[in-house]
Amino acid sequence: ASKLRILGIETSCDETAAAVVTRMQDGSAVTEADVVLSQLDEHSAYGGVVPEIAARAHVDALDTLIEEALKRSGVTLADVDAIAATSGPGLIGGLLVGLMTGKAIAMAINKPLYAINHLEGHALTARLTDGVAFPYLMLLVSGGHTQLVLVKGVGEYERWGTTIDDALGEAFDKTAKLLGLPYPGGPAVERAAANGDPKRFAFPRPLVGEARLDFSFSGLKTAVRQAAEGIAPVTDQDIADICASFQHAISRTLKDRIGRGLQRFAELYPDVDQPALVVAGGVAANKVVRQTLDELCAINGFRFVAPPHHLCTDNAVMIAWAGLERMALDMPADELAVAPRSRWP
Ligand code: KG4
Ligand code: ZN
Repeated sequence: ASKLRILGIETSCDETAAAVVTRMQDGSAVTEADVVLSQLDEHSAYGGVVPEIAARAHVDALDTLIEEALKRSGVTLADVDAIAATSGPGLIGGLLVGLMTGKAIAMAINKPLYAINHLEGHALTARLTDGVAFPYLMLLVSGGHTQLVLVKGVGEYERWGTTIDDALGEAFDKTAKLLGLPYPGGPAVERAAANGDPKRFAFPRPLVGEARLDFSFSGLKTAVRQAAEGIAPVTDQDIADICASFQHAISRTLKDRIGRGLQRFAELYPDVDQPALVVAGGVAANKVVRQTLDELCAINGFRFVAPPHHLCTDNAVMIAWAGLERMALDMPADELAVAPRSRWP
């Protein structure tokens, strides 16, 4: 395929994002613009993302962000070969804003529209950043998802495990809330844990030892509540110990769950030379989580691939890249009638 340039749009949750990415003839990528506006301030007072506020914020921000992305990349819409917009899964209001905007631009410049699955964006990012070859394993750990996915090719995914209750990021956020720490909870819990004793509380490690590769984190949150309620008054040291013990339980859980996944992959693909585990999602920023996965990969002969933080969290570069991967394979673009999907099994 020749050189291809895509404008990517992401609006599925609480980040409004636009990016311009070019795929060169040799398959490498050049990110010409990567603009993200986080709505953190709009939602923090509520301790979580409020869908209606999110949708309105996307409407307010998106046009300006797209203009900014084009300006930074020094191109105009005439230089763009296609549009890629997230069409699901996510909050329906935000998806509508992004997909409708994508359709309008595609129609105006008479170029194809790719309606991208948000999870596919996360799954393919490591190919842009590290040139990872198919097949590989991807662990997505964000505020909304906890999934272990076998990535066989563009559009070929097998979900090996998912959470049966809370997402991992959600467990961090709820734990933080229980302990009176600020939103988003992940960074706050990690900071507090730095001075804590990870052995003080023996928190549960749900599903550890089971053959299926699913996750469960709601019991952990309940155990945190009980631990905090059992202490009065709760000191900063108590909070630090709870946070450290919480992260320790997560580390042990991941070791068991993902360890099994790596073994299953190795059995399925004995001939893959240097298999890779790719991590994505906001929780990938957590040092204990990273270190756990890094060690696990070293033990099992896997390469651990963690894209830079801004490409692990929600962004439009990954959406543009997913579109470019499809385009380069001559996969069909989507009809302008395509509808957003809040759920996308
Ligand atoms: O991928 P992301 O930015 O947004 C989506 O959920 O789509 O992930 C946000 C989640 C939040 O739950 C946040 O608490 C968590 O990632 N997170 C962390 C850390 N930084 C962000 N969790 C643990 N440790 C961190 N350092
Ligand atoms: Zn995401």
